[in-house]
Amino acid sequence: MSKALVLYGTRYGTTRGISDEIEKIIKAKGIVTESYDLKEYPSKKIPPLKDYDGVLLGTGIMMGRWTKSMKNFVNKRKSELNKIQDNLGFYVCCGEASEQTKIKTAINKYITLKLEDIGLMPALIDAFGGVYDLTNESAITGITRKIVIGIMKNEYGVMDPEGRLHDFRDWTQIKDFAVKFSNLIVK
Ligand SMILES: Cc1cc2nc3c(=O)[nH]c(=O)nc-3n(C[C@H](O)[C@H](O)[C@H](O)COP(=O)(O)O)c2cc1C
Repeated sequence: MSKALVLYGTRYGTTRGISDEIEKIIKAKGIVTESYDLKEYPSKKIPPLKDYDGVLLGTGIMMGRWTKSMKNFVNKRKSELNKIQDNLGFYVCCGEASEQTKIKTAINKYITLKLEDIGLMPALIDAFGGVYDLTNESAITGITRKIVIGIMKNEYGVMDPEGRLHDFRDWTQIKDFAVKFSNLIVK
């Protein structure tokens, strides 16, 4: 039976939601799947990557950066990752990819250029739109909240963004990606 490993880094939970959806789809294809939040699960405990038929990495973007947990994981395991590039998927979840015309730029900025430094080119890459949570329950507070309100108004043209959840994830794009990832594994 084929085995997949799904690892993600998230600050506000958006990337967890995407990873959960991808996991559901690949499991439905009969692929045995393990999934870990890199912040909660020590990277040392993650088994050798060659034990899996496919590995998927996903991270949210803040101020142009991956999560620290993803950065550390990729740096620590880069030689292993290099050996499994043909069975490796990598995606980012970011504001920039919220518009279809900007997806290519987001892929280039947040994946290709960052992985180029370590000579890594995964077989499958994509960038998904993100979420800006401005509900009253949101973890985005203080000055960060003010910045996000400014972004919603100036970049997205939302006149009254407060108190709402602005979700730009395209679930069709995410499902298509999950199917492509399954096809990498089950050849
Ligand atoms: C303070 C802040 C900074 C952000 N900076 C960027 C950025 O530099 N580029 C971008 O494309 N998206 C940016 N975003 C959008 C996030 O990538 C988006 O909210 C995503 O859903 C976060 O994913 P996570 O919850 O999994 O961490 C930012 C969001 C916040 C709240």
